[in-house]
Amino acid sequence: MNLTRRTFVAGSAAVLAGTLTACTAERTADYYRGANGGDGALIGVSMPTKNLERWSRDGENLKSLLEDLGYVVELQFADNKVEQQNSQIQTMINKSPAVIVVGSIDGSALGPVLETASGLGIKVIAYDRLIRDTKAVDYYVTFDNYNVGALQGRYIVDALDLDHTAGPFNFEPFAGSPDDNNARFFFAGAWDVLTPYISSGKLVCPSGKLPASVDDWQSIGIQAWSNTTAQAEMENRLNSFYSATTRVDVVLCPNDAIALGVGQALDSAGYGGSDWPVLTGQDADQANVANIVNGKQSMTVFKDTRALGERCVTMVDQIAQGRDVEVNDTASYDNGALVVPSYLLDPVTVDAGNVRQILVDSEYYTAEEVGL
Ligand code: GAL
Repeated sequence: MNLTRRTFVAGSAAVLAGTLTACTAERTADYYRGANGGDGALIGVSMPTKNLERWSRDGENLKSLLEDLGYVVELQFADNKVEQQNSQIQTMINKSPAVIVVGSIDGSALGPVLETASGLGIKVIAYDRLIRDTKAVDYYVTFDNYNVGALQGRYIVDALDLDHTAGPFNFEPFAGSPDDNNARFFFAGAWDVLTPYISSGKLVCPSGKLPASVDDWQSIGIQAWSNTTAQAEMENRLNSFYSATTRVDVVLCPNDAIALGVGQALDSAGYGGSDWPVLTGQDADQANVANIVNGKQSMTVFKDTRALGERCVTMVDQIAQGRDVEVNDTASYDNGALVVPSYLLDPVTVDAGNVRQILVDSEYYTAEEVGL
């Protein structure tokens, strides 16, 4: 590692502040480059929480991929607390990283701190979740979020054979965290696929918890994607609107944490075997994949965190080496202040039919880990 760089990184915040003021957005590749190509530059990685399996995996994966390339990584998890994420990012800025990668908690709450970063020439990559309402975000790397919801919707259509059956089926929708920009895309994707069947009366919603329009998705959002909040909400719906004769047939769960909570509510209400509803999910968390294997969850949308990590690391490296940064979408993600150049990856549906092929053969899990 470049000694000068090490000294620089280890310097006091006061000295850094002075030095940083002199650095402008015009930092050059030489600034980042250490003795071994891209080696030695500091990269900040700010993840929302360790409590959801996917984020814990994402953080550790990014760290090890970046370290493999010789970068120095400061990885922080913010316990789903917006204030904590803000102050962790500020601390990173004080250490003068080349790039900060952010999986935001509240996509609209990071503008000021990231504007500080941007003013110092530090590049910002929004990881998985878009950062909104600020120009201080350079790139976005994510999966095709709308398509995640569309895959969930299409799975429901096929599983209930909605094109060839009259129904009606009792349908309960959930949406993700109201402060997460992705949650809207997930809901919109599912909504667009399912609305024709709702309009034709094949899907009915006994609880009435059907948003009036896609713009009203937050009315059924589960704050922080909490499985316990989802469980309580599902228990309420089951207690108030369902009975031994009125059974729920299908639940749109936007991610696996919510599917787990909903599954627990169904368990306690005595669902099981043939009356277990169609249940969607997202993230391929281990417990959920085991549930797919044992029949307690119908599907999940797999977003390979290894691929997302690799793409993000490629972006970091391209930035740090002063090369062109590859993107494949320059139209979809308007954050309210600019259209953020994005790289979108493809999500994949996993169910009992392909779980081994997609998750075990690719060594994401061992067969034992998911009960195969
Ligand atoms: C979303 C993310 C999903 C899911 C959810 C809960 O932003 O795209 O994969 O993990 O947050 O953390």
